[in-house]
Parts: sequence; C-alpha cells; structure tokens
Amino acid sequence: MKKITLLFLYWSVSHALFAQNRLTLNADLGRDTISHNIYGHFAEHLGRCIYGGFYVGEGNITIPNRNGVRTDIIEALKKLKVGNLRWPGGCFADTYHWKDGIGPKDKRPSMKNVWWGGVTEDNSFGTHDFLNLCEAIGAEPYLAGNVGSGTVKELSDWVEYTNQDSGSPMTELRKANGREKPWNVKIWGVGNEAWGCGGNMKPEYYANIYRQYATFMTDWGNSAKLYRVASGASDDDYNWTEVLMRDIPHKMLEGVALHHYSVIDWSKKGPATSFSEDQYFKTMKTALDMEEFVTRHSTIMDKYDPKKKVALVVDEWGGWYDVEPGTNPGFLFQQNTMRDAMIAGTTLNIFHNHCDRVRMANLAQTVNVLQAVILTEGEKMLLTPTYHVLEMYNVHQDALQLPIDLVVNNYTFGTEKLPAVSASASRDKAGKIHISLVNIDPARAQEVSVSLRGATSKGVSGRILTSPKVQDYNSFDQPNRIKPVDFKGATLNGDMLKVTLPPVSVVVLEL
Ligand code: AHR
Repeated sequence: MKKITLLFLYWSVSHALFAQNRLTLNADLGRDTISHNIYGHFAEHLGRCIYGGFYVGEGNITIPNRNGVRTDIIEALKKLKVGNLRWPGGCFADTYHWKDGIGPKDKRPSMKNVWWGGVTEDNSFGTHDFLNLCEAIGAEPYLAGNVGSGTVKELSDWVEYTNQDSGSPMTELRKANGREKPWNVKIWGVGNEAWGCGGNMKPEYYANIYRQYATFMTDWGNSAKLYRVASGASDDDYNWTEVLMRDIPHKMLEGVALHHYSVIDWSKKGPATSFSEDQYFKTMKTALDMEEFVTRHSTIMDKYDPKKKVALVVDEWGGWYDVEPGTNPGFLFQQNTMRDAMIAGTTLNIFHNHCDRVRMANLAQTVNVLQAVILTEGEKMLLTPTYHVLEMYNVHQDALQLPIDLVVNNYTFGTEKLPAVSASASRDKAGKIHISLVNIDPARAQEVSVSLRGATSKGVSGRILTSPKVQDYNSFDQPNRIKPVDFKGATLNGDMLKVTLPPVSVVVLEL
C-alpha cells in the first residue's frame, strides 16, 4: 500500500515538473493584421536620448553622422524596421514650443528642461532634424503636441507648417527654412499624460480641451488624413478611457493612448542589473499586467466603438528601474538585461494577440533612456537584448495574426506564480508562419508541443536569444555577449512541433 502511494506521489510530482506546455495554432482562423505601428519607438528630449544619443551635432568630426544624427544609429534603426517614432515627449512635449526649434541654429532661443534634470535645451534639434531623421530610418513620425502650456494656434500652425504644400505663412516659413515639400505628418498626439505632467486635468476637462484642439488640427486639404491620438490613461485608470470614449466624437478621434511601465514600486524601483529573483519576479508580474490593462481598456472601448474604429495606442511601455549609479537621476539612464528581453517578448506577444484594438505602441525610449534599444558612450554604440527581440519579432509586422490556444506551466517563486511561457503567431504575405515564444522561467527549460491546425509545413527554422543569467547584458566591453543565434531546439513531425525553450529565452520560429 505504502509502495503504491509513493509511486503515485512520484508520478504526480514528475508529471507536474515535466508536464508539457501545449499550444494550438489556429492557422485557418486569422482575421486581424498586426500593424507595423505596434513596433513604434519614442525619442524624448530627456537625458542622453537626443543630445549625446541620436544627435551629436553637424560639426562633429569624430562620430560619423548625417546632418548631426549618428550614422550607426540610423543603420541600426533601419534594420529594426521602426514603425513610427514619437517625439519630442513625454512630459517634455507639454513644455515644448516648436517655433523655438526652427530657423538658423545659432539664433534659436534656449529653455530649461524642467522635467528632466533642469538642463539647458538649446533647441538645436528641432522639427526639421526630427522629420529628416524619420525619413532617414524609414519611420512614420508621431508628433506630440503641446496642450499643457501651448495654444490651439501653436499646434494648428505646426500641422500647417509640416503638412500644407503652399500658400500660407507657415508654408512660406518652412520653405525659407530650406524644406520645399511638406512632410505630411499623419500621427499627432494631442498632449501627453494630461492627468499628470501634461496639466493635471480631469478627464471631462481634457475631453473638452481635446475637442477644441482637434477641431483646428486639419489635414489642410492634402491626402494625409490626420491620425489624432488622445492623451490616455495610466495603467488601470479605466474611468479616463470611459470618459474620453463617451465625450469625444469619434469622427475627431483616431486613437486613445495608454501608458504602462513595468516598475516594481515607484519609490523603490531596484537596480537595472544586480537585481534579485524576487525583483525579477515582481517586474515580470507588472509587465504581464499589460494583458489585463489592454483587455479591460479594450472592453470599455468596445462599448462605445463596437466596430473598433478608434485604436488603443500604448504609446509608452517598458521597464523602469533605478538609474545607473553615478548618473544624473533626471536622465533615466539604465542598463538593459535579459529581464528587458523578457518584458519585450511577452509584451509584444500581448500586443499581437490584441491587434484588433492595439494598433500602435511605443517602447520607451530608443536611445540611452529607460528600456533603450541602443546605448551610446562617446563614439561607442551597442545594441541591447531588447533591440534583438524587436529585430527578431519584426517578421510579424503587417502579417495576419493567427489565434492560438495556450496551456502552460507556471514559473513559481515562493507562493506566487506566473505563466512561464508566452506566445503569438502570424502568417506573412509570402505565406510563412512565424511563432514567437518566450520562457520567462530563470531556472527551468520548458517543452512546448505545438499542434498546427489548418496548416501544413515542410520544415521549421528559428532564432533564439538567451543567456545563462537573467541579469546578463551587453556592455561596451562585451557589446555582442547577447545576440540572436540559430535555434536547433524545434522538431517537426507531421502537424506536431516539439520545441524546447531554455530558461530565459526568446525564440522566433519560421514554418
Ligand atoms: O518616459 C519618461 C516619462 O514617463 C515621459 O516623459 C512621461 O510621459 C512618462 O511619465
């Protein structure tokens, strides 16, 4: 009797430990497209993102540049396929007066960057520099207008300056500043975090202000219809979304924003590299909260907009930790480890799986700030693990999302648990199927059995990003320590695929 109980116990434990994760890919049920704009980035006048990051100045003879923008960054971002680039903030946007950033650089007025370190902003990087940068990397510009301390006229002038062909004071000014043809900027933010740094407004008040600003932001008769994004909620502020969807006529609203950072505790964020497993677990818990936020904000939007015309735009997301020791606390400079790769992989899977409503997103921020894809130090430049995840995942851009059913093991820490495996899938225009898988468990490999429903495949290939420890990162001494390599852990047998994901790994498979 005792023997049987022991045997049963052994069976139960081993079954629990080695139970397979099961993924069913419904290849015949695709309906929605994963917009390339989910792969948007964010460049704020904050710390060393613009100055000392993107922009090293036209006169710089030590760092190769195109009109002052680093050529190595341009090349890296071209490869990344940046859907859109948001600028100039963030909180900075609601203090920014765009006319200070045009015309001869030596005549531009300076200002104090009150939000970020109190440094002097000399306005040497302005509208022309940013829009030309977007052209150079092939990204759509996303301009965030100043609602908090600006005027309706200032924002409508900006639209006219960038988008109207000719025949107005703003277009003449643009031409006098050296740009003949308009850039036709489509995506515009109407303020930023209006509930906080953008004016501490109540949602009803902001909804009214939005209506006023949006009325005077027109497409000035050219073909680029404006895509206006209302300043959205933070995390679980569902009332904000409810009021905006209720009070703003949808004919003047193309997107509603949402901001969510993966932060353990705003007063005790913890280090970016030497974090404990407890801190890792908590970060991943907040990262995975994105699933609930996106689902519940979407449900509210569905109530007012069942045809899903208005997009949910997650225009700030990413990990946020303590700044690197010895750096300016107002510059938000942090290293980027495999933890960030886990945040990137799982968050993008969430966006893919909600692509019917989430049609735009912006990782914060591109260079040297928060969850950056690129870090620079003088002439040196490196690509972070987050960069590599976004590059591996860009095969999903503008592909048909394929619904999946997923049953997974847990990653347990103490008495708490999180799903160990995250996934999403799509079929591109050439018919290739891509499956992205993430194993966030720092200690245990996960075997996933994938059943291909509605598709046949002759073979599988893939790439993996992994490293022995979740705290590992690329440094200026070892810039290529973590990079994607070929993946050999998948075998195909008929319509069944077996995949072994090492601990802390991101895998993209191609069928
Ligand atoms: O990304 C840093 C800051 O975080 C942005 O400026 C602001 O919008 C948010 O609070």
